Amino acid sequence: MKKENLYDKLIEYRDSGIYPFHMPGHKRRDRLFHGMNIDPYEIDITEIDGFDNLHNAEYLIKDAMNEVSDFFGTKKSWYLVNGSTSGILCAIFASANVGDTALIARNCHKSVYNAAEIRGLKAKYLYPDYIEEYDMFGGYDPNKIREILEEKPEVKVVLLTSPTYEGVISNIKEIADIAHDNNCVLIVDEAHGAHLGFNDKLPVAAYQCGADIVIESAHKTLSAMTQTAFLHVMGDKVDIRKIEKYLSVFQTSSPSYVLMASLYNCVANLKKNGVVKQNRQIECIDKFLQKTKGLRNLQIFTEDNIGKNSIFAYDKTKIIIGIKTNIIDGNILMNILREKYCFEMEMASLKYVVAITSMEDDEKAIMKLAEALIDIDKELELIYGNEKQLKKIPKDIFIKEREQKLLLAEAEKTEGEYIKFDESEGKVSLEYIYLYPPGSPIITPGEVITAEIIKAVEYYKERKLNVIGAKENIIKVAKRGLHKNRW
Ligand SMILES: Cc1ncc(COP(=O)(O)O)c(C=O)c1O
Repeated sequence: MKKENLYDKLIEYRDSGIYPFHMPGHKRRDRLFHGMNIDPYEIDITEIDGFDNLHNAEYLIKDAMNEVSDFFGTKKSWYLVNGSTSGILCAIFASANVGDTALIARNCHKSVYNAAEIRGLKAKYLYPDYIEEYDMFGGYDPNKIREILEEKPEVKVVLLTSPTYEGVISNIKEIADIAHDNNCVLIVDEAHGAHLGFNDKLPVAAYQCGADIVIESAHKTLSAMTQTAFLHVMGDKVDIRKIEKYLSVFQTSSPSYVLMASLYNCVANLKKNGVVKQNRQIECIDKFLQKTKGLRNLQIFTEDNIGKNSIFAYDKTKIIIGIKTNIIDGNILMNILREKYCFEMEMASLKYVVAITSMEDDEKAIMKLAEALIDIDKELELIYGNEKQLKKIPKDIFIKEREQKLLLAEAEKTEGEYIKFDESEGKVSLEYIYLYPPGSPIITPGEVITAEIIKAVEYYKERKLNVIGAKENIIKVAKRGLHKNRW
């Protein structure tokens, strides 16, 4: 059999006719350079005279970034060419010093954990609410944040994810007030919400609610190329010089002008017709929601969930297809959608599948997705009772508070040994274990492994979810017993 190669595989996918309900938000349609058929190689340069410098922007790039700030109404905005990942690292380094305490949402992306570890922060975790019906993260309870900050006045930074991968938005306004009353900087990872902030038919963006630093992936839901993102600053709690210093630390010294040009055109297009296009997208989603209202075995997550589980608002451009029956799981549904209906989805969890829509989507494809779901729903109805039930999922495993014996940075320095994961109960992990996507950890270095965690991880593997960590049933744990609990 011929060995696959990366390039051919991409071309094969391009030509496959499979419709992308996944990132990037441009959906690989020829819109990047104003619909002009430009070969990216033709404009691929790095800093040469006359083209400005991302790390010391004075004219072309500075003007372009000012346009971002004008459009979104921020105090200052920057282009990022190393994804939101680089923006998150930069935001944390610019707002917390070595040894500072940060309150970090437990469902944060791994870049947040990496930043906390390499900055040597004392990271206290904030657990979000849990939506049992979907086995999914809810929002953050402002009261819980208030309690923690009052109990721990040493916290300097609060970092949350909103919207989540699934579009759940927390009450950022209230949380910002609480954070500021306690002298904290509020950083919001809005990687999944770059399309918010300019259309009142969608929830407002975090920078409009009092957050101090907001990071957004332009490639996830807007039309810019993969790796592009924005970092926005509001208010006067943030040292701009420090932001610029760390942007240079965490980003390449040869930023791609192709990526920056795609950011430029993305913003220019938003200014020109962003609202019109987004209104069209929203109308289309509303039709989809109307059409799928009668599903019985599947269910679409909607704005009806607002007000429960600390969900303050919901971004309906994400389509979350929940599975009510126990005959199939997210992976099985994702495979059916791919193989029978030619849709590639963004991700599958045990109880739901995520489709990402953007302004570049084809309305017909969204309607066809609705028809496919109605079809699958009927089929599930027919086979109900005759099919083997899947084992019950391990409930709320992600939001159970863990016993934390070491800080992330301490765990890195702790002497470890490799043991069998299924025999690691009671040991202190020196590794992460997470599902990717979405990339929030089941266990972090420094936490005690429980029997429940071992069982859950084995279950995820059995159900073919993408488990990262504890590879080949081996995990690195602390060699000696540790008695002290960190909090
Ligand atoms: C919540 C969240 N934050 C940050 C990131 C990192 O974004 P990027 O891929 O732009 O570096 C991701 C990536 O999936 C994410 O899901």
